[in-house]
Amino acid sequence: MKKLDKDSCIGVIGAGTMGSGIAQLAASFGHKVILFDANATVLKQADERLEKSLEVLVQKGKVTDAAAKSTIANIHHASSLDELAKCDLVIEAVIEEIGVKQDIFKKLEQITSGDCILTTNTSSLSVASIAASCNKADRVAGIHFFNPATLMPLVEIVPGIATDPAVIEESRKLIDTWGKTTVIAKDTPGFIVNRVARPYYGEAIRIYEEGIADLATIDWAMKEIGGFRMGPFELMDFIGNDINFKVTETVWTQLFFDSRYKPSLTQKRLYEAGFWGRKKGRGYYTYAEGATMPEPNKDRKLGEEIFVRIIAMLINEAYDALYLKIASKEDLELAMTKGVNYPKGLLKWSEEIGVEVVYNKLMELHEMYLEDRYRPSVLLKKSIKA
Ligand SMILES: NC(=O)c1ccc[n+]([C@@H]2O[C@H](COP(=O)([O-])OP(=O)(O)OC[C@H]3O[C@@H](n4cnc5c(N)ncnc54)[C@H](O)[C@@H]3O)[C@@H](O)[C@H]2O)c1
Repeated sequence: MKKLDKDSCIGVIGAGTMGSGIAQLAASFGHKVILFDANATVLKQADERLEKSLEVLVQKGKVTDAAAKSTIANIHHASSLDELAKCDLVIEAVIEEIGVKQDIFKKLEQITSGDCILTTNTSSLSVASIAASCNKADRVAGIHFFNPATLMPLVEIVPGIATDPAVIEESRKLIDTWGKTTVIAKDTPGFIVNRVARPYYGEAIRIYEEGIADLATIDWAMKEIGGFRMGPFELMDFIGNDINFKVTETVWTQLFFDSRYKPSLTQKRLYEAGFWGRKKGRGYYTYAEGATMPEPNKDRKLGEEIFVRIIAMLINEAYDALYLKIASKEDLELAMTKGVNYPKGLLKWSEEIGVEVVYNKLMELHEMYLEDRYRPSVLLKKSIKA
């Protein structure tokens, strides 16, 4: 398999939100980047965005003028996929549609040399399903960046069922040189972050739907007591309820409708109504000019109740991910602290709170609701008995 280093030529397919960021990142580390998008206008817009963002960085003194110029010069536009023939590593970041991605990988296999590493930035499709379009699936892997790719430190590297371990080793080594924290995630729905973080949103909505507390109080509790940077509803409005709802729905359906990941009607209605959050001026909260945020009820006892319920669900998810070998203990902790800025790794947090306390909370919820959603992970249970 290809050895990757600073002289490797990187192909990026798709110049949208993710592709343009990945191209900028690779180019800023001196790689020659060949960027292709089916839509020529998108390529042009990506160029304009790149120039603007570099201009700001130069003004802020974060990047030198020379470095900005060299980043721009390193990115070459391709007018057809064929121009990616000389690439050593290709990162595909086109729309999230399996047919489109499979078609691209089928073509890439013909166009590139046999040892070129082919990767996908998919968030929700399986690497196995994309790799299956190639005759030789061993050089295909997932490299999952977070948005914005230039700034977010975490990258999940995902081996497919047939991926050659050398592909993973080379990809990880290279992405590490781009200043990223890489973790290895099993090819399962949501990989690490998008799976383990689900209860932060889902359980918060459930608490709200049941009338236990209002939005502002739940957000306050998670920030004040939990130390999270943003409350669940603020965060969903920031991410976008369109994206957040779709990720939840995809993880749930791909995990064969496991009730632990069940989406909520509350968020579905926001999605349907176009209340997607900050970008639309309205989500759980209103962001119109002059709008004020509602005041939380700062009742400490209520806050603790909210926090313990949500953190117990998050910790349970982390234990289950470890139990199912979705990632190593170290990678799970890194993923949640670097990928979604959690104040602590969830496994470490469980030791501080007490594994028994977490387990008992889940059992209490399980008994109360008689729902499989609250079943404790086998590993959590075993961890108290040990
Ligand atoms: N946006 C995020 O927050 C995020 C985060 C991580 C991963 N991802 C994943 O990254 C990928 C891209 O997402 P995005 O948000 O950048 O999407 P986007 O819609 O911003 O960009 C997708 C681009 O793909 C291009 N495209 C479509 N079909 C093509 C084809 N056949 N050949 C070449 N280009 C084609 C489109 O013209 C568009 O510019 C998806 O797989 C998504 O799941 C997105």
